[in-house]
Amino acid sequence: MTFEIKINDKLSLTIPTTEESQNIYEIIDKDRKHLREWLAWVDKTTSATDIENNIIERIAKFEKKEAASFYAKYEGKWIASVGFISINDKDKQGEIGYWLSSEFEGRGLMTECVRTSIKYGFKELGLHRIVIRCRSLNIKNSAIPKRLGFTLDGTLREDHKSEDSYDDTLIWSLLDREWKE
Ligand SMILES: CC(C)(COP(=O)(O)OP(=O)(O)OC[C@H]1O[C@@H](n2cnc3c(N)ncnc32)[C@H](O)[C@@H]1OP(=O)(O)O)[C@@H](O)C(=O)NCCC(=O)NCCS
Repeated sequence: MTFEIKINDKLSLTIPTTEESQNIYEIIDKDRKHLREWLAWVDKTTSATDIENNIIERIAKFEKKEAASFYAKYEGKWIASVGFISINDKDKQGEIGYWLSSEFEGRGLMTECVRTSIKYGFKELGLHRIVIRCRSLNIKNSAIPKRLGFTLDGTLREDHKSEDSYDDTLIWSLLDREWKE
Protein backbone atom coordinates (compact mmCIF):
# COMPACT_ATOMS: atom_id res chain seq x y z
CA MET A 1 0.00 0.00 0.00
CA THR A 2 1.37 3.41 -0.91
CA PHE A 3 -1.06 5.75 0.86
CA GLU A 4 -4.01 5.37 3.25
CA ILE A 5 -6.58 7.56 5.02
CA LYS A 6 -8.50 5.72 7.73
CA ILE A 7 -12.10 6.95 7.99
CA ASN A 8 -13.03 4.55 10.81
CA ASP A 9 -12.29 0.96 11.89
CA LYS A 10 -14.09 -0.45 8.84
CA LEU A 11 -13.65 2.11 6.07
CA SER A 12 -10.49 3.54 4.49
CA LEU A 13 -9.28 5.31 1.34
CA THR A 14 -6.15 3.92 -0.25
CA ILE A 15 -3.82 4.22 -3.19
CA PRO A 16 -2.84 0.55 -3.34
CA THR A 17 0.12 -1.19 -4.89
CA THR A 18 -0.38 -2.93 -8.24
CA GLU A 19 -0.60 -6.25 -6.34
CA GLU A 20 -4.28 -5.39 -5.73
CA SER A 21 -5.07 -5.07 -9.47
CA GLN A 22 -6.80 -8.45 -9.78
CA ASN A 23 -8.95 -7.94 -6.64
CA ILE A 24 -10.08 -4.49 -7.80
CA TYR A 25 -10.70 -5.74 -11.34
CA GLU A 26 -12.99 -8.47 -10.00
CA ILE A 27 -15.39 -6.05 -8.30
CA ILE A 28 -15.69 -4.02 -11.51
CA ASP A 29 -16.08 -7.12 -13.67
CA LYS A 30 -18.95 -8.51 -11.59
CA ASP A 31 -20.77 -5.16 -11.54
CA ARG A 32 -20.53 -4.08 -15.20
CA LYS A 33 -24.28 -3.66 -15.70
CA HIS A 34 -24.54 -1.21 -12.77
CA LEU A 35 -21.40 0.77 -13.61
CA ARG A 36 -21.52 0.99 -17.42
CA GLU A 37 -24.71 3.05 -17.38
CA TRP A 38 -22.77 6.03 -16.02
CA LEU A 39 -19.08 5.35 -16.63
CA ALA A 40 -17.68 5.21 -20.16
CA TRP A 41 -14.41 3.51 -19.16
CA VAL A 42 -16.11 0.34 -17.85
CA ASP A 43 -16.43 -1.38 -21.23
CA LYS A 44 -12.80 -0.52 -22.01
CA THR A 45 -11.65 -2.20 -18.78
CA THR A 46 -11.25 -5.82 -19.82
CA SER A 47 -8.45 -7.24 -17.67
CA ALA A 48 -6.50 -6.78 -14.44
CA THR A 49 -3.74 -5.20 -16.53
CA ASP A 50 -6.04 -2.22 -17.17
CA ILE A 51 -6.38 -1.75 -13.41
CA GLU A 52 -2.64 -2.19 -12.96
CA ASN A 53 -2.08 0.65 -15.45
CA ASN A 54 -4.72 2.72 -13.67
CA ILE A 55 -2.97 2.25 -10.30
CA ILE A 56 0.38 3.21 -11.84
CA GLU A 57 -1.24 6.35 -13.28
CA ARG A 58 -2.91 7.18 -9.93
CA ILE A 59 0.42 6.92 -8.10
CA ALA A 60 2.20 9.12 -10.68
CA LYS A 61 -0.53 11.80 -10.62
CA PHE A 62 -0.69 11.71 -6.81
CA GLU A 63 3.06 12.30 -6.58
CA LYS A 64 2.81 15.24 -9.01
CA LYS A 65 -0.28 16.59 -7.15
CA GLU A 66 -2.30 16.41 -10.39
CA ALA A 67 -4.90 14.10 -8.80
CA ALA A 68 -5.61 12.24 -5.55
CA SER A 69 -7.82 9.35 -6.55
CA PHE A 70 -8.28 6.53 -4.07
CA TYR A 71 -9.85 3.09 -3.90
CA ALA A 72 -12.06 2.51 -0.85
CA LYS A 73 -11.92 -0.58 1.33
CA TYR A 74 -14.73 -1.66 3.67
CA GLU A 75 -14.26 -4.52 6.14
CA GLY A 76 -11.22 -5.68 4.17
CA LYS A 77 -12.97 -5.66 0.73
CA TRP A 78 -12.47 -3.22 -2.15
CA ILE A 79 -15.83 -1.50 -2.71
CA ALA A 80 -15.35 1.81 -4.52
CA SER A 81 -13.24 4.47 -6.13
CA VAL A 82 -13.38 8.08 -4.92
CA GLY A 83 -11.25 11.18 -4.79
CA PHE A 84 -9.83 13.99 -6.88
CA ILE A 85 -9.74 12.95 -10.51
CA SER A 86 -8.13 16.30 -11.32
CA ILE A 87 -6.49 19.12 -9.40
CA ASN A 88 -5.97 22.59 -10.85
CA ASP A 89 -3.23 24.04 -8.66
CA LYS A 90 -3.34 27.54 -10.18
CA ASP A 91 -7.00 28.11 -9.25
CA LYS A 92 -6.87 25.79 -6.20
CA GLN A 93 -9.70 23.68 -7.57
CA GLY A 94 -10.30 19.95 -7.51
CA GLU A 95 -12.93 17.73 -9.08
CA ILE A 96 -14.21 14.72 -7.16
CA GLY A 97 -15.41 11.59 -8.98
CA TYR A 98 -16.67 8.28 -7.57
CA TRP A 99 -18.32 4.92 -8.09
CA LEU A 100 -19.51 2.33 -5.59
CA SER A 101 -20.10 -1.40 -5.98
CA SER A 102 -23.90 -1.94 -6.09
CA GLU A 103 -23.66 -4.45 -3.22
CA PHE A 104 -22.70 -1.59 -0.89
CA GLU A 105 -25.17 1.09 -2.02
CA GLY A 106 -27.75 2.63 0.30
CA ARG A 107 -25.72 2.72 3.53
CA GLY A 108 -24.13 6.17 3.31
CA LEU A 109 -20.67 4.72 2.64
CA MET A 110 -19.96 6.89 -0.42
CA THR A 111 -21.19 10.01 1.35
CA GLU A 112 -18.63 9.27 4.10
CA CYS A 113 -15.87 8.69 1.52
CA VAL A 114 -16.69 11.96 -0.26
CA ARG A 115 -16.83 13.82 3.08
CA THR A 116 -13.33 12.54 3.87
CA SER A 117 -12.07 13.47 0.38
CA ILE A 118 -13.43 17.01 0.87
CA LYS A 119 -11.57 17.34 4.18
CA TYR A 120 -8.41 16.06 2.51
CA GLY A 121 -8.88 18.54 -0.36
CA PHE A 122 -9.32 21.59 1.82
CA LYS A 123 -6.90 20.71 4.64
CA GLU A 124 -4.11 18.79 2.90
CA LEU A 125 -4.27 20.02 -0.70
CA GLY A 126 -5.13 23.62 0.21
CA LEU A 127 -8.00 23.80 -2.26
CA HIS A 128 -10.40 26.74 -2.46
CA ARG A 129 -13.15 25.11 -4.52
CA ILE A 130 -14.32 21.53 -5.01
CA VAL A 131 -16.53 20.50 -7.91
CA ILE A 132 -18.70 17.44 -8.54
CA ARG A 133 -20.20 16.94 -12.02
CA CYS A 134 -23.32 14.79 -12.27
CA ARG A 135 -25.46 13.73 -15.20
CA SER A 136 -28.94 15.07 -14.49
CA LEU A 137 -30.45 11.59 -14.88
CA ASN A 138 -28.18 10.20 -12.15
CA ILE A 139 -30.28 11.10 -9.10
CA LYS A 140 -28.20 9.03 -6.63
CA ASN A 141 -25.07 10.84 -7.81
CA SER A 142 -26.44 14.38 -7.23
CA ALA A 143 -27.87 13.33 -3.85
CA ILE A 144 -24.30 13.17 -2.49
CA PRO A 145 -23.17 16.78 -3.14
CA LYS A 146 -26.65 17.94 -2.10
CA ARG A 147 -26.36 16.02 1.20
CA LEU A 148 -22.90 17.48 1.81
CA GLY A 149 -23.91 21.13 1.37
CA PHE A 150 -22.73 21.81 -2.18
CA THR A 151 -24.38 24.56 -4.26
CA LEU A 152 -25.72 23.91 -7.74
CA ASP A 153 -23.67 26.29 -9.91
CA GLY A 154 -25.54 25.52 -13.08
CA THR A 155 -26.51 23.14 -15.84
CA LEU A 156 -24.60 22.30 -18.99
CA ARG A 157 -27.48 21.69 -21.34
CA GLU A 158 -27.48 18.48 -23.37
CA ASP A 159 -23.69 18.09 -23.20
CA HIS A 160 -23.79 14.31 -22.81
CA LYS A 161 -24.73 12.02 -25.68
CA SER A 162 -26.43 8.76 -24.74
CA GLU A 163 -27.42 6.14 -27.28
CA ASP A 164 -30.45 7.97 -28.61
CA SER A 165 -30.62 11.29 -26.73
CA TYR A 166 -28.65 14.08 -25.09
CA ASP A 167 -28.79 14.81 -21.37
CA ASP A 168 -27.65 17.63 -19.09
CA THR A 169 -24.70 17.80 -16.69
CA LEU A 170 -25.16 19.46 -13.29
CA ILE A 171 -22.18 21.30 -11.79
CA TRP A 172 -22.08 21.28 -7.97
CA SER A 173 -19.46 23.23 -5.99
CA LEU A 174 -18.30 23.78 -2.42
CA LEU A 175 -15.91 26.56 -1.28
CA ASP A 176 -13.45 26.22 1.58
CA ARG A 177 -15.22 28.90 3.67
CA GLU A 178 -18.58 27.12 3.26
CA TRP A 179 -17.04 23.84 4.43
CA LYS A 180 -15.56 25.50 7.53
CA GLU A 181 -18.94 27.08 8.35
C1 LIG B 1 -23.56 7.34 -7.25
C2 LIG B 1 -23.39 6.27 -6.19
C3 LIG B 1 -21.98 6.32 -5.61
C4 LIG B 1 -24.41 6.53 -5.05
O1 LIG B 1 -24.41 5.45 -4.13
P1 LIG B 1 -25.28 5.53 -2.80
O2 LIG B 1 -25.22 4.21 -2.14
O3 LIG B 1 -26.63 6.09 -3.12
O4 LIG B 1 -24.51 6.61 -1.91
P2 LIG B 1 -24.15 6.48 -0.36
O5 LIG B 1 -23.24 5.32 -0.15
O6 LIG B 1 -23.69 7.80 0.08
O7 LIG B 1 -25.54 6.11 0.32
C5 LIG B 1 -26.63 7.01 0.31
C6 LIG B 1 -27.87 6.20 0.56
O8 LIG B 1 -27.73 5.54 1.82
C7 LIG B 1 -28.73 6.05 2.72
N1 LIG B 1 -28.05 6.19 4.03
C8 LIG B 1 -28.14 5.28 5.02
N2 LIG B 1 -27.37 5.68 6.04
C9 LIG B 1 -26.79 6.84 5.69
C10 LIG B 1 -25.90 7.73 6.33
N3 LIG B 1 -25.45 7.50 7.57
N4 LIG B 1 -25.48 8.84 5.67
C11 LIG B 1 -25.91 9.10 4.44
N5 LIG B 1 -26.78 8.29 3.78
C12 LIG B 1 -27.22 7.17 4.41
C13 LIG B 1 -29.22 7.35 2.11
O9 LIG B 1 -30.52 7.66 2.51
C14 LIG B 1 -29.14 7.02 0.66
O10 LIG B 1 -30.16 6.13 0.30
P3 LIG B 1 -31.34 6.58 -0.72
O11 LIG B 1 -30.68 6.75 -2.09
O12 LIG B 1 -32.27 5.44 -0.68
O13 LIG B 1 -31.86 7.87 -0.17
C15 LIG B 1 -23.65 4.84 -6.75
O14 LIG B 1 -25.01 4.75 -7.13
C16 LIG B 1 -22.80 4.53 -7.97
O15 LIG B 1 -21.62 4.25 -7.84
N6 LIG B 1 -23.39 4.53 -9.15
C17 LIG B 1 -22.68 4.14 -10.38
C18 LIG B 1 -21.52 5.04 -10.74
C19 LIG B 1 -21.87 6.50 -10.72
O16 LIG B 1 -23.00 6.87 -11.04
N7 LIG B 1 -20.90 7.34 -10.39
C20 LIG B 1 -21.07 8.76 -10.43
C21 LIG B 1 -20.98 9.27 -11.80
S1 LIG B 1 -19.39 9.71 -12.27
